Amino acid sequence: MNKTTLQNKTTPLLTVKNLKKHFPVRSGFFSHISAWVKAVDDISFDVYAGETLGLVGESGCGKTTAGRALLRLIEPTSGEVYFDNKNLLKMKATELRQIRRQMQVIFQDPYSSLNPRMTIGNIVGEALKVHEIATGEALKHRLEELLDRVGLSPSYHSRYPHEFSGGQRQRIGIARALALNPTFIVCDEAVSALDVSIQAQIINLLRDLQAEYHLAYLFISHDLNVVQHIADRIAVMYLGKIVEIAPADTLFKSPKHPYTQALIAANPIPDPDIKHEAKLLEGDVPSPVNPPSGCPFHTRCPSVMDKCKHIKPPLTEIKKEGKSQIVWCHLH
Ligand SMILES: Nc1ncnc2c1ncn2[C@@H]1O[C@H](COP(=O)(O)OP(=O)(O)O)[C@@H](O)[C@H]1O
Ligand SMILES: [Mg+2]
Repeated sequence: MNKTTLQNKTTPLLTVKNLKKHFPVRSGFFSHISAWVKAVDDISFDVYAGETLGLVGESGCGKTTAGRALLRLIEPTSGEVYFDNKNLLKMKATELRQIRRQMQVIFQDPYSSLNPRMTIGNIVGEALKVHEIATGEALKHRLEELLDRVGLSPSYHSRYPHEFSGGQRQRIGIARALALNPTFIVCDEAVSALDVSIQAQIINLLRDLQAEYHLAYLFISHDLNVVQHIADRIAVMYLGKIVEIAPADTLFKSPKHPYTQALIAANPIPDPDIKHEAKLLEGDVPSPVNPPSGCPFHTRCPSVMDKCKHIKPPLTEIKKEGKSQIVWCHLH
């Protein structure tokens, strides 16, 4: 464990170390692998019990791949993932199945992530049946409890997903995720498809549930404003790499990485105490098939130096008032 990534708290619930996921690009008649998409390229971070770590970055930077790889919904290329001090990537199927009860996921699109031919009761109760946790009256009681807890009428259990609005469907997705009493939930763009007013309701629900059940969230979003409302700490991703991790308030008040600064400048927040120079991003994100050498951001960085082009930026930890801000940048 890299000590510098630790905060002054307890041991992490989840530790991700040097995680990589490279997808093969196949071409030609024999489908030879001609290149690799470095979707997630060596990321490390911790998530503590009961906290929300936001994971932000532009579309295509590898957030979804990171979330899926650490849950082993897709097999990582390399790295280590510890959940409750157990290495997930070394686990056999039965052990993984057990630990998966504690690790759930809520997806972006409640329209496609709920099976249209299943009733709400079957969708939410499926895991309880699969894991043989409840049947008959006990199952019915648990279902009612779950629906009620996410703000849906228990009488809805016999209805189908198409009968509900986007926000209600996301509540169904949350009830499904809660069914097995998890301790960790990956929320992948969980509110991104919803109207702003509905977004706020779902975020409030997620917060209430977190307080009540001491849940940890990895809250993935391309929208910094959304993440700001829920995250305790925020990790910023660019082209398969994390460039900065900091407590949410620190990140907004004094972002250290030029990419973070640009992201925040592009998402102005109405706070007169926070002043940022408007350094908007120029140019396109380079391809993850051929990411730039040295610092991945050097091709767009307003403060680029010669060494940024050739040398990977080292990890620097800035400690202030007991808070830890980590940045991978040659400026620091
Ligand atoms: N199954 C896949 N095969 C090949 N490339 C993929 C696959 N899934 C994602 N990618 C690529 O990996 C990169 C990261 O994608 P993704 O994790 O979905 O980003 P984000 O969630 O941040 O928008 C993108 O360039 C995407 O095209
Ligand atoms: Mg995504």
